[in-house]
Amino acid sequence: MANFTFSTINCNEKLIAPSLLAADFACLESDILETKRAGVKILHIDVMDGHFVPNISIGIPIVSSIRKVSDQLFDVHLMISHPLKYIAPFVKAGADNITFHIETEDNPLEVIAEIRKLNKTVGMTLKPGTKPEEILPYLDMIDMVLIMSVEPGFGGQSFMPDMMQKVEFFKTKAREMKNKNFHIEVDGGIDLNTIGMASKAGANIFVAGTSVFKNKNKIQASIISLLEEAKEDGIQ
Ligand code: DX5
Ligand code: ZN
Repeated sequence: MANFTFSTINCNEKLIAPSLLAADFACLESDILETKRAGVKILHIDVMDGHFVPNISIGIPIVSSIRKVSDQLFDVHLMISHPLKYIAPFVKAGADNITFHIETEDNPLEVIAEIRKLNKTVGMTLKPGTKPEEILPYLDMIDMVLIMSVEPGFGGQSFMPDMMQKVEFFKTKAREMKNKNFHIEVDGGIDLNTIGMASKAGANIFVAGTSVFKNKNKIQASIISLLEEAKEDGIQ
C-alpha cells in the first residue's frame, strides 16, 4: 500500500502518472524504479477485459507482483464490463484507487459503495463519446474524474483536443464544490505537445504511457520534462 492517497494528495498539485501499459513487461521492476527515481507518486494501471474494450492487458497477479516492489499509489483504471465483481480482488492485490467507467453494465452507486467499503478512493471515467453531465449525479461521492482523451483500449493513440472542454466543465464544477479535494486526470496521447492543453484546461494528473516509456534510456528525463511543461501551462 502507498502511504498517500488521492485524499491526501492536494488537487492543486500537478502530477505525472506513468501508464504501465507502455512499460517493458519483461522488466517491470526496473521500469517502475526509474519512475520512482523521477519522483513519481502515482502509477497508472490499465485493466482491460477484451469485452468492454477490444484488448486484454494487465490483471490481478501482475498488480500483486508489482506491489512488492513499489510503494507508489496504484491508480487502477478498470476498462471492464463488470467492475463490481473485480474490485475486491484488485484491492487485495494492492490497488489504492479504483477508477471505473460510467458506461459499464453495473450500477455506479453499487460500484462506488463497494470501493468505499474497502476504504479506497473512487475515480469515475467516461469514453470520448459520453457526455460529462452523466457523471454529475455522482460528483460529490467520488475523489476523481478521469477524462479519456483517446478511445480506451490501446496506448499510443493521438490526443483528442476537444476533450479538454470536458476538463474545463469539471474544473468549473470542482470550484463550485468549494472545500472538496477533487482531482481531474487526463488519459491518452499525453506528450510534450499536448500536456500543456490538459494542464491549462484544469487537469492536475496526467497519465502518460508511450511518451514516458518509449525511450528506455530516457524514462526519468521524459517524466521530468512532462512535469515541467504541465507546471508551465497550468492553472490552479
Ligand atoms: C488507454 C489507456 C491509457 C494508455 C495511455 O486505454 O487507458 O492509460 O495506456 O497510453 P498513451 O500515453 O500511450 O496514450
Ligand atoms: Zn488508463
